[in-house]
Amino acid sequence: MRAVTITGENQFELREHPDPVPGAGEVLVQVRAAGLNAADLHQLAGRYPAPPGSPPDIPGLELAGEVLVCGSGSRRFAPGDRVMGLVGGGGQAELAAVHERILMPIPESLETLTAGGVPEVFTTAHDALFTQAGLKTGERLLVHGGAGGVGVAAIQLARLAGARVIATVRSPGCRAQVEGLGAEVIAPDAFGEHGPFDVILELVGAPNLPEDLLALAMGGRIAVIGIGAGAKAEINLGLLLAKRVQMFGSMLRARSLEEKALTARAMERQVLPLFDSGSLTVPIAAELPLERAEAAYARLRESGKFGKVILTM
Ligand SMILES: NC(=O)c1ccc[n+]([C@@H]2O[C@H](COP(=O)([O-])OP(=O)(O)OC[C@H]3O[C@@H](n4cnc5c(N)ncnc54)[C@H](OP(=O)(O)O)[C@@H]3O)[C@@H](O)[C@H]2O)c1
Repeated sequence: MRAVTITGENQFELREHPDPVPGAGEVLVQVRAAGLNAADLHQLAGRYPAPPGSPPDIPGLELAGEVLVCGSGSRRFAPGDRVMGLVGGGGQAELAAVHERILMPIPESLETLTAGGVPEVFTTAHDALFTQAGLKTGERLLVHGGAGGVGVAAIQLARLAGARVIATVRSPGCRAQVEGLGAEVIAPDAFGEHGPFDVILELVGAPNLPEDLLALAMGGRIAVIGIGAGAKAEINLGLLLAKRVQMFGSMLRARSLEEKALTARAMERQVLPLFDSGSLTVPIAAELPLERAEAAYARLRESGKFGKVILTM
């Protein structure tokens, strides 16, 4: 099989690899699409190695395709079934061996190519907003970085749950599209004037933290998911106490098979039916074939994207 292959710091090329063989409980997936993520850039730069058990040199945290072969003891899917899921690495390849418990069926109404951009961002958004921060109907949610993959998923899920959503969007060209998802769009500076917020989804990072705390309502929650703009902040713990703030951090990639399976089951129950009812969309900023992985990564690095960059096989 061919796969995007890391050959050095910030260097990769398309290379041949032996076809993976599905082990017990795994299926071999013919990959049709793999979403790119900011984490891929960190892995390329040597800052974010693949967890044990994942190919160390093939990036790719999510994939969609068809089941080719079922390994021993695997029963959830049959050859030909359309599946998608989170993987620890190895998604940007023509074939991948994936444990059946972390795979989800692709909703009927979703194209397989589009599904390649679903698992990472919708699982992250759902887990952060509902499993961790307990977002409720009528609450005010602030999403920092609302035009990106996770932001777009979070805004839609929160609106469907009856929350009021305010989103910071840096690139003016994306504002109207984010408003189209049902969010009130604000510029990233002086976002605190638009509080108080019950929940803040922090997808940008540390520079926002001091103002996040000021803008939080009593009993508010902050879910820290993205730290692209920085990881270290000085915060006022007095505010944390006075407002009874809860702060959560989360990373999907490092979770165990059991924990990832739980997120997949939560997605199947609470999110996937919303695709078939037409309530959720997956905006795609760019879709490029595996042979044009360089161009796909270049697009990933650019500002001003609305939604996902997807590699197709
Ligand atoms: N913890 C986890 O498990 C997990 C899972 C998924 C993602 N993440 C992280 O979460 C973050 C968002 O992921 P994503 O897939 O949505 O990324 P994305 O598609 O690249 O979107 C990031 C968004 O944030 C905006 N942004 C970046 N820096 C900003 C700044 N300094 N001020 C204001 N806006 C800024 C970008 O705007 P521009 O277009 O103007 O640049 C873009 O709209 C990333 O850091 C990613 O690594 C973490």
